[in-house]
Amino acid sequence: GTPAPVSPTGVPVTGDPLDSAQQGRWLTTATGVRVHDTDHSLTAGRRGPTLLQDHHLREKLMHFDHERIPERVVHARGAAAHGRFTGYGTAASICHAGVFDEGKETAVFVRFSTVLGSRGSADTVRDTRGFATKFYTDEGVWDLVGNNIPVFFIQDGIKFPDVIHAGKPHPDREIPQAQSAHDTFWDFVSLHTEAQHHTIWNMSDRGIPRSYRMMEGFGVHTFRCTNADGETNLVKFHWKPKLGVHSLTWEEAQMLGGFDPDFHRRDLYDAIESGAHPEWELGVQVFPDTPDQMFEGIDLLDSTKLVPEELAPVQPIGRLVLDANPTNFFAEVEQVAFHTGHLVPGIDATDDPLLQARNFSYLDTQLSRLGGPNFNQLPINRPHAPVNDMLRDGMHQTAVHGGAAPYRPNSLDGGCPFHATTDQSDPATRAFVEAAVTVAEGRKVRDQPASYDDHYSQTRMFWLSLTPVEREHVVRAYTFELGKCYEQAIKERQLLALAQVDADLCAQVAAGLGLEVPTAAEPLPEAAPSPALSQLGATWPVE
Ligand code: HEM
Repeated sequence: GTPAPVSPTGVPVTGDPLDSAQQGRWLTTATGVRVHDTDHSLTAGRRGPTLLQDHHLREKLMHFDHERIPERVVHARGAAAHGRFTGYGTAASICHAGVFDEGKETAVFVRFSTVLGSRGSADTVRDTRGFATKFYTDEGVWDLVGNNIPVFFIQDGIKFPDVIHAGKPHPDREIPQAQSAHDTFWDFVSLHTEAQHHTIWNMSDRGIPRSYRMMEGFGVHTFRCTNADGETNLVKFHWKPKLGVHSLTWEEAQMLGGFDPDFHRRDLYDAIESGAHPEWELGVQVFPDTPDQMFEGIDLLDSTKLVPEELAPVQPIGRLVLDANPTNFFAEVEQVAFHTGHLVPGIDATDDPLLQARNFSYLDTQLSRLGGPNFNQLPINRPHAPVNDMLRDGMHQTAVHGGAAPYRPNSLDGGCPFHATTDQSDPATRAFVEAAVTVAEGRKVRDQPASYDDHYSQTRMFWLSLTPVEREHVVRAYTFELGKCYEQAIKERQLLALAQVDADLCAQVAAGLGLEVPTAAEPLPEAAPSPALSQLGATWPVE
């Protein structure tokens, strides 16, 4: 099932001792010398001290002592599988990326994850789930690094360290391990009320999926696609599971956390092993690439907003099947390095300030997580397209690069004397070219558009879209999670935010917590330290 490894120079790797199955008659040292005895240290006499001279012992311990690498700073807990993506050809009018061509099959690797828990945490906690897909396309690697919730907590990536610090365990108590049931989380989302929309999705049944196989996936951001005629459109990507969207009940999630903390990981592995290969359809919502990048009054660059499917239906463009489990969890699931900046010709980023920050952050974190700049040479990260990148040397370099002149143009290696010209209308020579759109101009500011100020209308839309039993679950989730807060003022401030969403929701949660129901116009419990907080007192229409 594992795609054939390709060397950084595009040559398939055969007989590479580092890719070996570690089987065979003889045990050897790392340098290939046959080992006679791996169970006894070399000692001076049967009961004497161990000799420094015992190289096999020292090598064995040295390597073991360094087996661990840092876990991901977020999304540390995950499980993954290999598969295939097949294009339908229906995206042609929007995007010329070859991966979408009719019948085109592309190898993929998909990693599902929780966000906040550490590597050993339980699968069934209430959290957002990651849904990250690496497409090994003929035109290079494309990563669609999404979640199972279509919106995000924050509008600007500069707040990402803050929201994660708030969600991770308290610095003093290291509580909780993996849930949103604590003071710092609710402190953050009640002060940065842009997070209310994502949070209500977390408090709904979407926060406790039944199986990775039964989750939707969302690229969240708006991307810009270019078709063969050079026309651009704005696009949001959606994964729709063939098995439908299903959740655990809270009681099931709680019990499984004890009975089988590996529940989702096991479910994915067992399903694939037994031939029940999970499937998703990839679809796109398409919006005209207008200068204001708005659609029906919704700011397409604001990742706390979605576009209802009633306004922009999801059009299917391809199918994903996961049909092979990893061979080695560390080599594949831990070492895979996704990046929102891994884009292929036809798919481009937009000016969404969250996406712009992500495009810096992933490369940066992987530099330390994977120990140097050559992590794209790791088998799981290697593109299936030829590589000729002029990148040289560095920690853990595994390629033996040829040539005397690692720069372009050069007159020594018979290399291309000038920058190669690419014919963008020819799929065989097309290169990645940023869409030549006009960007916003203005004074340098630390500010945001007025369209980012509405934190409640889509939160309310979500609440109103739920059935009575789904609403009951949301109320119980808020009540349970807020009930874990030590600080009463934080609970009260979150109730104020809920009052802006829906009076009934607020009243039910307040009753569950045994607290007074605030009114929207009620003064804030403390002086407003930020513009986001001051919006709580604004006159939002509350029924
Ligand atoms: C990891 C999704 C926002 C930084 C991940 C992963 C996913 C993901 C799925 C796990 C990748 C894997 O399985 O290896 C998202 C989504 C976001 C978002 C959907 C918003 C729409 C951000 C932002 C930042 C960020 C704003 C920083 C500014 C990171 C980092 C990792 C990560 C540092 C760890 C990557 C690694 O160690 O390989 N994210 N993320 N994310 N994300 Fe995000």
